[in-house]
Amino acid sequence: MSLQGKKIILGISGGIAAYKMNYIVRDLVKSGAEVKIVLTKSALDFVAPLTLSTLSRNKVYTDFSDENKTWNNHVELALWADLMLMAPCTANTLAKIANGICDNFLMAVYMSGKCPVIIAPAMDLDMYKHPAVTRNLEIAESFGHSIVPAEYGELASGLIGQGRLAETDTIFSAIENHLTETEKPLTGKKFLITAGPTYENIDPVRFIGNHSSGKMGFDLAKEAAKRGAKVILISGPSTQTADSKNITIHRVTSAQEMFDEVFKYYENTDVAIMSAAVADYTPKLKATEKIKKNDHELTIELVKNKDILRTMGEKKTTQFLVGFALETQNEEENAKGKLVKKNLDMIILNSLRDEGAGFAHSTNKIKLFTPTEEQNFGLKSKEEVAKDILDFIQQKL
Ligand SMILES: Cc1cc2nc3c(=O)[nH]c(=O)nc-3n(C[C@H](O)[C@H](O)[C@H](O)COP(=O)(O)O)c2cc1C
Repeated sequence: MSLQGKKIILGISGGIAAYKMNYIVRDLVKSGAEVKIVLTKSALDFVAPLTLSTLSRNKVYTDFSDENKTWNNHVELALWADLMLMAPCTANTLAKIANGICDNFLMAVYMSGKCPVIIAPAMDLDMYKHPAVTRNLEIAESFGHSIVPAEYGELASGLIGQGRLAETDTIFSAIENHLTETEKPLTGKKFLITAGPTYENIDPVRFIGNHSSGKMGFDLAKEAAKRGAKVILISGPSTQTADSKNITIHRVTSAQEMFDEVFKYYENTDVAIMSAAVADYTPKLKATEKIKKNDHELTIELVKNKDILRTMGEKKTTQFLVGFALETQNEEENAKGKLVKKNLDMIILNSLRDEGAGFAHSTNKIKLFTPTEEQNFGLKSKEEVAKDILDFIQQKL
């Protein structure tokens, strides 16, 4: 991805990982960014300003004025930037960020800025674990800054633990994500996506569940996040994971829990895609002790769960509401019926009669219906299906 014309300030503080900034600067310049660098006094012990000014093709700043006593205008510099990267960020500089301590040139630039800030801390493992550092990272996050957490590995002290500066590729991707965010089609949109099965407890060790893997919902969440949406992903029991700053995962177990979680966020959602396979029924009584085997047949009475999708349809205001239908017979008729009955804007049908579609496959074959249109898609990977679904939804927003 190109960073052509993007303006970046790199603030380097006095950590041993400072030397790695030479590589970041080289990569940023190669991808078209203009980079201006500010060093703290301590950082001067760890990197050579001449190397950095050569790589960045710009002057390197360390203080409010140069030898000739001309002012390095920190305000102008801060307002010039599209993004500020604090890397490596020492415990000391992090504490100053969290507390607004403006006692050097880097802090004056930081505090005058209005652009997004990315902080990549690096320090020894015990320092990193210190409650003050944890708290300061939380405070920095509450200012809206992005943290690229330190990684686990061998540290300059010879100890092994979390504290290493994140890999330069990881930091570079964080910069790219930020700077290209506004160019993404779903930036500013809030998505609510459900995924996976629900488990309805019979007793403390048994449940009624289904074969949903959660993959379709997670792939939808990842694709929406890639396109810039902020995603609340509510998942039933699933081994799927999603690692994106745009995705917040809430894990639940039962249909009732999913219902409660969905309605915490639904009101404030632009697009809701309900891909979870929610149990329609739940045992009327959930035994508190394990049910013992005996000579009799065992009958479990089931009662209806609340219908999440129908309730969402009833409460719908401006949300674009999407449901899934997994059918085994009268597929299209049932899907279209559900679209109308539940007041949906779109329904995605996958038929278990289609080979490779539905549960526990990495592929899916879908047909989309809106009240006025329908569109068929071929058998594809669930990642590709997620793209098709989001392309379709995107046109409707
Ligand atoms: C060899 C050496 C390595 C250091 N490495 C780190 C480090 O990785 N992270 C850190 O937070 N502090 C580190 N320090 C301590 C900082 O340099 C010190 O706290 C300094 O005051 C930071 O100032 P600054 O935040 O203004 O750059 C190191 C100090 C020395 C002497």
